[in-house]
Amino acid sequence: MAKPQIKIDYKNVMADVIGEEHGITRRRWADLAEKVELLIPLVMKEIVGFKRHPDITRTRYGLLPVNNKIAQKVKKQVDKISKKGKCDNLVVLGIGGSALGNIALQTALNPYMYNLDDKLRGGRPRLFVFDNIDPAQLASFLSALGDGLKRTVFNVISKSGRTAETAAQFLLIKKILKSQNSREKKEVHLADHIIITTSFEKDKKGRPQSTLYKIAKSEKPNLPLLEVPKGVGGRFTVLSAVGLFSAAMCGIDIDELLAGAKDMHDRVSCRDFKKNPAAVTAAVNYHYYKYGKRNSVIMPYAFALKDMADWYRQLWAESLGKRFDLNKREVWAGPTPIKALGVTDQHSQVQLYREGPNDKLFTFLEVKNFNNDLIIGPTPKYASELNCLQQKKMSLLLNNEKKATEYALSQDQRPNLTVLFDRVNAHTIGQFIYLYEVTTSLMGALLDIDTYNQPAVELGKEATFALMGRKGYCKFVKMPYKKFAQQIKTATKTNKKYLV
Ligand code: PA5
Repeated sequence: MAKPQIKIDYKNVMADVIGEEHGITRRRWADLAEKVELLIPLVMKEIVGFKRHPDITRTRYGLLPVNNKIAQKVKKQVDKISKKGKCDNLVVLGIGGSALGNIALQTALNPYMYNLDDKLRGGRPRLFVFDNIDPAQLASFLSALGDGLKRTVFNVISKSGRTAETAAQFLLIKKILKSQNSREKKEVHLADHIIITTSFEKDKKGRPQSTLYKIAKSEKPNLPLLEVPKGVGGRFTVLSAVGLFSAAMCGIDIDELLAGAKDMHDRVSCRDFKKNPAAVTAAVNYHYYKYGKRNSVIMPYAFALKDMADWYRQLWAESLGKRFDLNKREVWAGPTPIKALGVTDQHSQVQLYREGPNDKLFTFLEVKNFNNDLIIGPTPKYASELNCLQQKKMSLLLNNEKKATEYALSQDQRPNLTVLFDRVNAHTIGQFIYLYEVTTSLMGALLDIDTYNQPAVELGKEATFALMGRKGYCKFVKMPYKKFAQQIKTATKTNKKYLV
């Protein structure tokens, strides 16, 4: 039987509904359709490795939904750990694209109390993802973990294998695990506690590019390795071992995730604009970006989808925020992604969304059937004003609040889209991830930029190394690290004149 598919409802962006000043007219829609239809085949080729432009970074994330080998390797690794029966805690160490997808999958597909409820976990490990290096946070975790360290596995994820934050976390954990050896006079093998997920790519001389890879291979015994596939940038890796390993360890059906993505691959390959959900979503986003609504708010009405908004925010920001287009013209492109949560942010942001500047496009995520529902209790006699709530499903209230916000925004000519989920499960989440990846690629093509690089992030990474005293020459800024560090220190020195 065919699985339910997520759908895009774009009624509330059309001029017929929200008026000509802020809505898309039929003529404009036809123009957008024509423009996007030309790009669909190019982008579908681009995402499996064919460069649309000589200067664009090559990507291959479009091959992930059909690459069953990755899922097999991941499952093999999960089995090995299960057989040892020594993993109560799985800790992911990574940042950006090496963490946000893991968090999003866990929040979407495991129950809210997964980490705290042994019965819910059914023998599977708790999951912790550290995508920050706040020492107080990590110290608090390690102190609470205590002896539990012996039954903890760390999945260190870094495509480059040399990101300062992840490298620092790794070195700290390595030191702590090794110090157990001297304390307990019993040998702890790092290989029982650390799994590295990184790029296996080699340079021209055949040397591994990832420092983590080198470390994994030089430890005795070698640390287990999972691969970040060649040509897939961090923020597009959630459907590779990066996202799949922690998901599978925590009982998420990774085959269904990939099957959902594959279903979406077929839908977004459709050359008919009207039938292609990525084409329609990209066209709407592009239109509003061009016509002054440069903020894109994503607002799930389901806690399960809360961290998908975070994942989307990185995907959108790093992929589309670019200074130059492919013709090397300075364009300073990129819609600003903003995350909100229904209903929470109705009591925080909606005042601004309705009466503040009309400079945003809203994307709601709506779920028809919740995996668990609750019935509101009866109203006391003296509170008859609450009678309309009594004995109703909580999901009805939640979805009616979404409708109410949608209505209120539309009344104020604030364009909005809805992504409709029949229910949140591995299949629909796989669809959603792939839909937004391809939508991002189409947006990048419409903006004529390199969607897959992140030069602005690289500068910050190299600057950190310089400040931490790295030796040698920094190719990225074309000067020795020492000189680079001096420049940064001068530029960031506090000037008392401006202190208040
Ligand atoms: O999308 C990206 O490329 C980045 O956000 C990276 O994922 C992030 O900077 C972490 O890089 P790495 O996986 O190399 O440690």
